[in-house]
Amino acid sequence: MAQLSDRLQRLAPSATLAMSQKSSEMKAQGIDVINMSVGEPDFNTPDHIKEAAKKAVDENYSRYSPVPGYPDLRKAIVAKLKNENNLDYSVNEILVSNGAKQSVCNTVMALVNPGDEVIIPAPYWVSYPQMVKLAGGNPVIVEAGFDQNFKMTPEQLEAAITPKTRLIILCSPSNPTGSVYSKEELAGLADVIKQHEDLFVLADEIYEHINYIGRHESIAQFEGMKERAIIVNGVSKAYAMTGWRIGYIAAPEWIVKGCNKLQGQYTSGPCSVSQKAAEFAYVSSQECVEQMRQAFERRRNLIVELAKDIPGLEVNVPEGAFYLFPKCSSFFGKSDGTTVVKNSTDLALYLLEKGHVATVGGDAFGDPECFRMSYATSDDNIREAMRRIKESLAELK
Ligand SMILES: Cc1ncc(COP(=O)(O)O)c(C=O)c1O
Repeated sequence: MAQLSDRLQRLAPSATLAMSQKSSEMKAQGIDVINMSVGEPDFNTPDHIKEAAKKAVDENYSRYSPVPGYPDLRKAIVAKLKNENNLDYSVNEILVSNGAKQSVCNTVMALVNPGDEVIIPAPYWVSYPQMVKLAGGNPVIVEAGFDQNFKMTPEQLEAAITPKTRLIILCSPSNPTGSVYSKEELAGLADVIKQHEDLFVLADEIYEHINYIGRHESIAQFEGMKERAIIVNGVSKAYAMTGWRIGYIAAPEWIVKGCNKLQGQYTSGPCSVSQKAAEFAYVSSQECVEQMRQAFERRRNLIVELAKDIPGLEVNVPEGAFYLFPKCSSFFGKSDGTTVVKNSTDLALYLLEKGHVATVGGDAFGDPECFRMSYATSDDNIREAMRRIKESLAELK
């Protein structure tokens, strides 16, 4: 029978990739589309990191690496966690994978049994609920919408916990909202987690360095939380290295060992050359990270200013990452005479077809009232995209 497994049939395709593909197809037809649907820095990988990769090729880093990653890279990550986050980890508590995406998936697979519940605040990164479903678990969505700056409160967390809850997935700075949990807010969530035995938190910190409010805070810093936390991070966003595919977890050793077993059967260690490049990214000057952060901050200020000037949009001010997630529900039910915009996915399609700007409807992120724009693009593109969006939205009556 030509039919995919039940497991795959339960899985939804990635809405962000679908939107990006649609915009590429339009571009291929010669249409001038501005793509604000993708989640990656528009910068090239800094030269000194590229040089380290070239050197690794010449030095014949061409064989299988150890499954959890080269010890030198894991040592560099241990030093990074100490220097930047004041967290004490050992090399045996680090596992390097093919991007933070695999790190998240490994962790979910390692901890979640069929029927277990995983709490995910919405809006969420599109892949979290799908990964939980792949593991046979049940995503429990906690709504943390626009009015609460997209952050889950300790009370909401407590109310969502049942005897079946195994894991909570937190993302700060957040994709898709740009919200950042403060130290106090994280402490409140940690207090709830600690009251429940066998409850773990996956802290996705991949946007750590794209932060506009100062220091990054990790939930692993609080008393008793290191045993409960799986930190996910990597080089993709901070060093403009999305294609190199290097992410990691920092977690209790028994979880690292579990993920190591899984990774050993699934993918083996990640690309040898990429690991050497990532190691150099961590041990060399961090100036490039700050330069890119400053560029993102300038663009954040620009897009917020322009979005606030569009009648009908409600705009939050993101404190990190490179996404704007404005509320657009005032347009639902309106039409330009041909297309009726019923929801945020319709709105994203309308903006693509009418204004030639690719965005992603909030439905995919568990918040149907908003839509996501990535501002990891040039100032000129941001200005032009916002002009087109303003013009297109003004036609909806
Ligand atoms: C919240 C979040 N976590 C993880 C990832 C995956 O990162 P990587 O490219 O390192 O797999 C992304 C990428 O878009 C992301 O937005």
